[in-house]
Parts: sequence; C-alpha cells; structure tokens
Amino acid sequence: MKCIEIRDGRLVLAERPVPKLKAGEVLVKVHAAGVNRPDILQRKGLYPPPKGASDIPGLEIAGVIIKGAGKGKKVMALVTGGGYAEYCAVPAKQCLPLPKNMDFITAAGIPETYFTVWTNLFDRGQIKKGETLLIHGGASGIGTTAIQIARAFGAKVVVTAGTDKKCRVCKKLGAAHAINYKEKDFVAETLRVTKNAGVDVVLDMVGGDYLPRNLQLLKAGGRHVSIAMQHGRVAELDIFQVMSKRLILTGSTLRPRSVADKAAIAKALHKAVWPLLGRGKAGPVIDRVFPLAAAQDAHDYLDAGEHVGKLILKVI
Ligand SMILES: NC(=O)c1ccc[n+]([C@@H]2O[C@H](COP(=O)([O-])OP(=O)(O)OC[C@H]3O[C@@H](n4cnc5c(N)ncnc54)[C@H](OP(=O)(O)O)[C@@H]3O)[C@@H](O)[C@H]2O)c1
Repeated sequence: MKCIEIRDGRLVLAERPVPKLKAGEVLVKVHAAGVNRPDILQRKGLYPPPKGASDIPGLEIAGVIIKGAGKGKKVMALVTGGGYAEYCAVPAKQCLPLPKNMDFITAAGIPETYFTVWTNLFDRGQIKKGETLLIHGGASGIGTTAIQIARAFGAKVVVTAGTDKKCRVCKKLGAAHAINYKEKDFVAETLRVTKNAGVDVVLDMVGGDYLPRNLQLLKAGGRHVSIAMQHGRVAELDIFQVMSKRLILTGSTLRPRSVADKAAIAKALHKAVWPLLGRGKAGPVIDRVFPLAAAQDAHDYLDAGEHVGKLILKVI
C-alpha cells in the first residue's frame, strides 16, 4: 500500500505491506485522513508513538471496513497511528458510523478533536449548562470543535485567537466573545466581557506562563483543563489561589489511553453528539484538503498557523 513515512524529520511517500489485524481490529480502506498538530510533533521527534502503535503518522481516518466486523460499513475512526495510508488497522470499538450524507473528507476531520474535546470538557472539566468556558486557540481544530460542542450543551464560550479574522470565525461558530490575544490582554478582556465574574472552565493548549493567568480567571470551584503546553511544560502558580477558590487542575492526553477508554468516549459521543452531526448542528471546519502525497505541504501549512479548523489528506 501507499503510505507516508517520516524520514529525517520530513514526510515522504512510501510503499509498505497492508497492516495485519490484531484481535478486535478491523481493516479500513482509507478514503481520507485528518492532520493534527500532534502529527507535527511526532514528525519532529517530540511525540513518539506509544508502544505497539504504527510509526506511520495519522490519528484519524474515514473509509470503508473491508475486513473484520462490520465489513462494508462506512466509518470514521480514532487511530493510535497509521492514518496517513491506504489501509489502516483499527480497534473495531474506535470506529463510529458516518452520519447520513456525510462525505469521507468531512468525516476524517472529526475523531481526534471530538474525542479530545468530549473527554476534556465533560469527563475532566465537568462543564455544565449555563457555565462559562474560556478556550485558548479558538480557531484551531480543537478550538472550532470545542466552541460548537460547548455551545450545543448550553455553555457560554469565550475564546482567544491570533487574528481578527480568526476571531470572526469563532464568533460565527458560536463564541459569545473572541479575544485577539496578540492585541489585547486576554485576562483583562475576559474579566471585562464577563463583568468581572470570570469563567468556570478553561480549556488550555498553551501552558507555561498562561497557567497562572488562567487561574486568575477561574471562579470558585473552577476547573483548569490542560491539553497541550505550547509555552512550556513548567508553570509557576499561586497555591493559595487554588486553595481559596477550591480549583481543580486536570488534563489528559488521548493517544496512549486504552482501547476500553477510547471505546467509552466513542459510545458517549455517539449518544450525545452524533445526533447534532446528523442535523448539521456541529461538524468540522475544513480549511484545506491535500493529496496524500503532499502530506509534507499540509504540515508546512499547519505549522505556518494561517489555517482555521482542520486540514485533511485525500487518500482516494
Ligand atoms: N491532549 C490531547 O489529548 C490532545 C489531542 C489533540 C491535540 N492536542 C493539542 O491541542 C492543540 C491544538 O491542536 P490542533 O490539532 O487543533 O492544532 P492547531 O490547529 O495547529 O492549533 C494550535 C493553536 O494554538 C493556538 N495558540 C498558540 N499560541 C497561543 C497563545 N499564546 N494563545 C492562544 N492560542 C495560542 C493557535 O492560535 P492562533 O493560530 O490563533 O494564534 C492555534 O489555533 C495542539 O497543541 C495539540 O498538540 C492535545
């Protein structure tokens, strides 16, 4: 099969045997694969695949099951690696059906951000209807998904983004306020737009120096959910602030979690979010589609940071 390999920190088209199935897996003929920032980290050697996972990059796919349970079904799937390829072996429990009339390009942009956002907003962040959520990186693949899901479940959303254009897209998706963090101080602005009330949950992909600033914004009983650390993995924080406001600091990584954990998230998504997808009330924001052979161009484009939402590789 054709696939993408990482060689000397770059993505190149290669040929490999079709993957063999392990117990509980199905073989998917991949039509499209999503591109995510963790793939860039993997290419740069900063995010090695977990033990037993394919070294081919790619964390989400859409295609047709050609071997194993559900043969012939159109699915999208969260994978632990191996997405940038013509065929991918995936645990059956990590597959979800395509909603009616959804194409493979759209479907390939769903699993990674939907699994991540669901588990971090609801399992970890315990967000509730009527609460206020601050999302950093509102125009990212993760951010565009988080805005829609949080809104759909009745939360009020404030986001940060790096340009006015990105802020406008976030508002169109349902954010009540979008702060251009390159022009305004997000702490002062969030306090202004919330009339000094602050927020109940922060979904943070910045880390480092953002942590103490985020904590300032949390209300009593607030939850801080870390999903990335673009400003560094070490932060200095005021412990008394955590104590006095009874804050919860949490976070998660998705890729190394067990099939059972991912299956539980898939089940919850299918029940709560799939009806929204079916009715067009949520869905990925697709910025650009690249052919599989141009995967490196897709990474360069993602790295440049001009995109809004998701990039997809078209395999067929
Ligand atoms: N923990 C997990 O399970 C998990 C799973 C998937 C992804 N992630 C992480 O989630 C993040 C988003 O992933 P993605 O694939 O959606 O990538 P992406 O589209 O490239 O998003 C990166 C985002 O980071 C934002 N950003 C960078 N510096 C910022 C700052 N100082 N303040 C506010 N926002 C800032 C950028 O905003 P602007 O472009 O507007 O400047 C951009 O929207 C990545 O860091 C990724 O590693 C974590």
